[in-house]
Amino acid sequence: MTTRYRVEYALKTHRRDQLIEWIKALLATPFVLHSQPTAVFEPHKDTMDHMATNAQRRYAEIMRDIEELINDHIAHQKAGTHERSKLKLLVPSVATFFTPLLLHDAFVWQDQRRFISYRRFVAPSFNDVRLILNTAQVMSLIRGGPLELATFDGDVTLYDDGKSLTEDNVVIPRILRLIENGTRIGIVTAAGYTEARRYYERLHGLLDALNVSDIPTGLKHNLIVMGGEANYCFRFAENSPDLLTFVPRKDWLLDEMLLWEESDITELLDVAEAALRDCVKNLRLPAQILRKERAVGIIPPEGVKFPRESLEETVMVTQKILEMSPVGRRLPFCAFNGGNDVFVDIGDKSWGVLACQRFFGGLEGSKTLHVGDQFLSAGANDFKARLACTTAWIASPAETVQLLDEIAELDEMQQRKTR
Ligand code: IMP
Ligand code: MG
Repeated sequence: MTTRYRVEYALKTHRRDQLIEWIKALLATPFVLHSQPTAVFEPHKDTMDHMATNAQRRYAEIMRDIEELINDHIAHQKAGTHERSKLKLLVPSVATFFTPLLLHDAFVWQDQRRFISYRRFVAPSFNDVRLILNTAQVMSLIRGGPLELATFDGDVTLYDDGKSLTEDNVVIPRILRLIENGTRIGIVTAAGYTEARRYYERLHGLLDALNVSDIPTGLKHNLIVMGGEANYCFRFAENSPDLLTFVPRKDWLLDEMLLWEESDITELLDVAEAALRDCVKNLRLPAQILRKERAVGIIPPEGVKFPRESLEETVMVTQKILEMSPVGRRLPFCAFNGGNDVFVDIGDKSWGVLACQRFFGGLEGSKTLHVGDQFLSAGANDFKARLACTTAWIASPAETVQLLDEIAELDEMQQRKTR
């Protein structure tokens, strides 16, 4: 029998972000009270601008109130009592905030671009709130001083799923601008390869552009790639044929990572592989099992698209089995749905971002931004980066470009202010 638990929790909760849903629900009230859908047939009842001003004021007030609740939560975090904050009671899944969020100003900024308050039939949506949160985060980072480290996911964030970062990608000049301004860059991708050549193939557009740019060599070295989530580190190297050089593990591994035993790694991958094989059999997937040194996954044959439900089921079964195994309690791992494959990696992106911070001399989470597309609580790999730093949740490479333009614009405004 399909129980309520299975429908409501197992199938839905992991596909929702509770903070975003909660904000969306709060914004629904002014939408219901102030939007004017009847104006379509009563054109003189209220002017559009009047309605929009009214709605905007109410939306903005709510965002200000949420901003205050987050500040209160941060005060509790500092006192070690974050479990008792009012926000925690309202949204139990909220964790650590590395910075305040300038939600009021971010709402006004996004409203000027998305005309949320002008809408009469479509309430503030999940995507509106997601983008407001991203803007609030970058506003706060920029007001708090220079952004010291930006880490990017690869697939869907910098280039389309399964594709490469080619020379025509408009994200390239934006990343070069960050490097020029002294921001360190880490590409923290799940794609796990042991050789520089494979990363060059995926990222050559950016690496070639950086190589021929007139950015000083010292700054060029501020680009690293962290592959397999937290397993292989490469640094930009102008003299190497692939423009990348392997960084020995001792230069970036965190102390806790030194405790990861080879025997545990093998054991965890064995458990994961067995779980994946079982799912492939039960769901009749024509999948190939791919076992690597630090990962195991299922990949489709050329031209085959796995059903979304099968991918999700596979992740959730595998994740549960690993969570319940003794080795899964000793060793961090990440099981995720890559769009048309499922992988289990040793470690996760929180370790990947922390390792980048360490490599660059111990940068802080409140000065680091991770940009990614996978922020659902289960079966998504960027989610864990929230443990290490501030984050922005984008939905396409075009949104990453927009976000970087926003950073540049806000940065310029900030510099004008301080001049
Ligand atoms: P990301 O979005 O940059 O984190 O890349 C995720 C994608 O990398 C996955 O969906 C896979 O298609 C691909 N991939 C290649 N090798 C690995 C691996 O060893 N672990 C996980 N994903 C991998
Ligand atoms: Mg991705």
